[in-house]
Amino acid sequence: MTIHFIGAGPGAPDLITVRGRDRIAACPVCLYAGSLVAPEILGWCPPGARLIDTAPLDLDAIVEACATAHARGEDVARLHSGDLSIWSALAEQTRRLEALGIPYTVTPGVPSFAAAAARLGRELTVPGLAQSVVLTRTSGRASAMPERETLAAFAATGATLALHLSIHVTDKVVAELTPFYGPDCPVAVVFRASWPDERVLTGTLATIARAVAESGLERTALILVGPALAPGDFRESALYATDYDRRFRPTGRPA
Ligand SMILES: C[S@@+](CC[C@H](N)C(=O)[O-])C[C@H]1O[C@@H](n2cnc3c(N)ncnc32)[C@H](O)[C@@H]1O
Repeated sequence: MTIHFIGAGPGAPDLITVRGRDRIAACPVCLYAGSLVAPEILGWCPPGARLIDTAPLDLDAIVEACATAHARGEDVARLHSGDLSIWSALAEQTRRLEALGIPYTVTPGVPSFAAAAARLGRELTVPGLAQSVVLTRTSGRASAMPERETLAAFAATGATLALHLSIHVTDKVVAELTPFYGPDCPVAVVFRASWPDERVLTGTLATIARAVAESGLERTALILVGPALAPGDFRESALYATDYDRRFRPTGRPA
């Protein structure tokens, strides 16, 4: 049978893809990362499904649960928060499944950085201000940062930064970024984007650390940094300009 890895989205139960929802509904076993997957998402499971919260399990136990279901001829929905392409432990699980000859599929989900940007009503790439988004984090207990992936190296580009897993070190983030972006650079912190208790703090590199400290909020937040967050009077892209000749809207004039 098959292990279906499914991005469960940032929190709100309707921020899951139709494919993800349908796969959950077709699986008699559901393994979910209980620390970040909203309980309402489990409402898509079929009646009688076996639900296993993997938050207290280690990798051996998670793979064993998959192997047991496989041996019983049961498909498994394996849910992780957001999308599976970032910080989902997908690689270590699929490596084990491949070694055991257990087939799997991957269904993408709405990543938390996209949900945070949507909550702010902001585009993270604004003409003339930022054309790249860096999805990164600071070093944690579970995973150290590779030597060359420093905040300074990313900040030197001036791109919009989406810092995950870092709200507890906001002071350090601010100290490292300020020399590159300046103290007036806009910052937004979105806690639990799309959850009922979602919170947003906005400010600048000069003000955000204090705002975070005063909020008392400590987990599940994104720190977004860069000029695109308060774009002001930016120039429009050429894409929709009246005189811009393109395949789907030819001006009829020679290029
Ligand atoms: C283990 S990572 C999982 C990331 C996930 N795979 C994704 O696509 O967003 C957990 C971190 O993602 C961020 N995160 C996840 N869900 C979030 C949400 N609803 N609102 C804000 N940040 C969130 C936080 O930085 C959190 O510490």
